[in-house]
Amino acid sequence: MTMLERAEAAEQKMSDELDRAVVKSAIYTSGERDPRLGAPPRTPGKKVMMGHDPRLPRMPEKPTLMDFFTLRFGPANHLLQSARLAQKNGVDEKLVLACLVHDVAIAGFIRGDHGYWAAQMFAPYVDEEVSWAIRYHQALRFFADDSVGYQYPKLYLELFGDDYVPDPYIQRDYQMARNHKWYMSARQICVNDLYAFDPDVKVELEEFTDVVGRHFKQPAEGLGFDASPTSHMWRTIMWPTKYL
Ligand SMILES: [Fe+2]
Ligand SMILES: [Fe+2]
Repeated sequence: MTMLERAEAAEQKMSDELDRAVVKSAIYTSGERDPRLGAPPRTPGKKVMMGHDPRLPRMPEKPTLMDFFTLRFGPANHLLQSARLAQKNGVDEKLVLACLVHDVAIAGFIRGDHGYWAAQMFAPYVDEEVSWAIRYHQALRFFADDSVGYQYPKLYLELFGDDYVPDPYIQRDYQMARNHKWYMSARQICVNDLYAFDPDVKVELEEFTDVVGRHFKQPAEGLGFDASPTSHMWRTIMWPTKYL
């Protein structure tokens, strides 16, 4: 068996042990599997997952942003330390929230175009300037700004190589953002986007309870269950294997 076949067999065994079949979204497997092939055949007679996936911690009935942090997002050290640095640098509090959530798409949803995804997810719940800043931090990260001492990240040289050229849409969005009234808000996320963080420094999520309380409009019904234009995105993070 190839490595992929072994992985698929192990996964099949795990899903056989569940009451319900897991049929993954095309985006889960695209690349590892040619999406033109469609999903692998369903086990006959077995019902499919239509909500909570028992392999994941269950979300409360009315999930808050904090619940998503603790039950669905990956290690938040980078985000917490960025938010703390922003606070220390005296950044406007609503932008401290932007720093706290700027990479949550990477932490819990989709990596590619993470700034755009997170901005959209948060738009109904934060000040327009906050979601704007989250959206454009992604493009601005690729471009230095000496006026605030921001250099092209060393990490990017390592990750993408020294001959990497950002995609034309990133360059276009950077040019647009550079001349926008909120340019500095998005730039603040980059300035405080901390990669060389100290593994011994532990920042607790609870330190930001008040910041979240003041700048994130938590829906009473819970994220995913309000009628906002992006609640489906929160539901997908909550129930990533829901069949329909
Ligand atoms: Fe980012
Ligand atoms: Fe970041």
